[in-house]
Amino acid sequence: MIVFPKSFLFGTATSSHQIEGNNKWNDWWYYEQIGKLPYKSGKACNHWELYKEDISLMHSLGYDGYRFSIEWSRIFPKENEIDENALNKYREIIELLLERDITPNVTLHHFTSPLWFMQKGGFAKEENLKHWEKYVEIISEILEGVQFVATFNEPMVYVMMGYLTGYWPPFVKNPFRAFNVASNLLKAHALAYSILSGMVKVGIVKNIPIMIPASENEKDKKAAKKADNLFNWSFLNAIWEGCYKSAFGTYSVLESDVDFIGINYYTASEVKYSWNPLRFFFEAKLADLSERKTQMGWSVYPEGIYKAITAVSRYEKPMYITENGIATLDDSWRIEFIVQHLQYVHKAIEEGYDVRGYFYWSLMDNYEWKEGFEPRFGLIEVDYETYERKPRESAYVYGEISQKKEISEELIKKYGLKGL
Ligand code: BGC
Repeated sequence: MIVFPKSFLFGTATSSHQIEGNNKWNDWWYYEQIGKLPYKSGKACNHWELYKEDISLMHSLGYDGYRFSIEWSRIFPKENEIDENALNKYREIIELLLERDITPNVTLHHFTSPLWFMQKGGFAKEENLKHWEKYVEIISEILEGVQFVATFNEPMVYVMMGYLTGYWPPFVKNPFRAFNVASNLLKAHALAYSILSGMVKVGIVKNIPIMIPASENEKDKKAAKKADNLFNWSFLNAIWEGCYKSAFGTYSVLESDVDFIGINYYTASEVKYSWNPLRFFFEAKLADLSERKTQMGWSVYPEGIYKAITAVSRYEKPMYITENGIATLDDSWRIEFIVQHLQYVHKAIEEGYDVRGYFYWSLMDNYEWKEGFEPRFGLIEVDYETYERKPRESAYVYGEISQKKEISEELIKKYGLKGL
């Protein structure tokens, strides 16, 4: 049996655009409608209407934390128009969670932005940060009782997908713009930190893929280090250093801080040397570490969560696993995934690493961005025709872990890794 500290939070995570439905004022919605994205989010999980049921469900399943995001474009559908109803609804969501002893962990930006903001150049233009500040100020009014607020979800994924590979909105492929956007996100974080600090604990959520060299060759090892730096550390370092050292030079950003770091961990990348300066002298692809692949084509590599924790501990801040999950139709594989990753989280805690919570991605099946509705990450199954929710076996197993703050010997025997 493994036992977690009594105060350890076991929660689940979601994001606004992926579950709410009808988020018609943001950039993703726009590109979905004009056919530049393969799938339309439509009503998504219809959570905007079913939020009460969803909160009751997570309560009855025994989860004590919930990470969700506020949709900026719902609060400001137009530049100078605040939707008070939307603001009140988020306040109601917070209150419902607090009433049920579920600790809310609020994210202010999870990939989507208001369309009007993007039409003005979004985070590529520093002068637009005044709009972000206004949004944060408004949100600060509904946070009573909330302890944790993360400014950005996976800022480097946002930069890479939207501005470097051009795979996601706004479909830009321009490394100069990409690093400029990253530097403005750092400034935006600092501005939000100064507005919210003292009121709540302010953090940032960073995806930490483990970078594995393709071979023992020195060149590949160096390439992996470079990728690690570029993707993982240069962004986080800049928060305290007040300057962002990108591949194209140094940007000065505002010095700031965080009260916690959220780690999103899914899998590892394999990195090899490339001669191509336009690729920053490395090539990265999904690492092939397990025979079975998830619906996303990802390997399962539980040890990676331990590596991510030990690496992020360099900042000496409390850490939360803000996302970790698997897209699969095989729910017993999901249970195995959770048990094995939690074994490694527990190992880290035993060794003294300051990890204070784990949020499974995701509470329920949802709109998986460019991959649409096929990948099933949920503890709860969603029927996209009736919007009926059906907890899977994993939802109950995870609930029991959450309630008891322990993983039973029986679960470890059946699903766990030996010798951990
Ligand atoms: C994102 C989520 C996404 C999940 C699974 C994370 O990178 O924050 O929005 O659904 O990964 O792909």
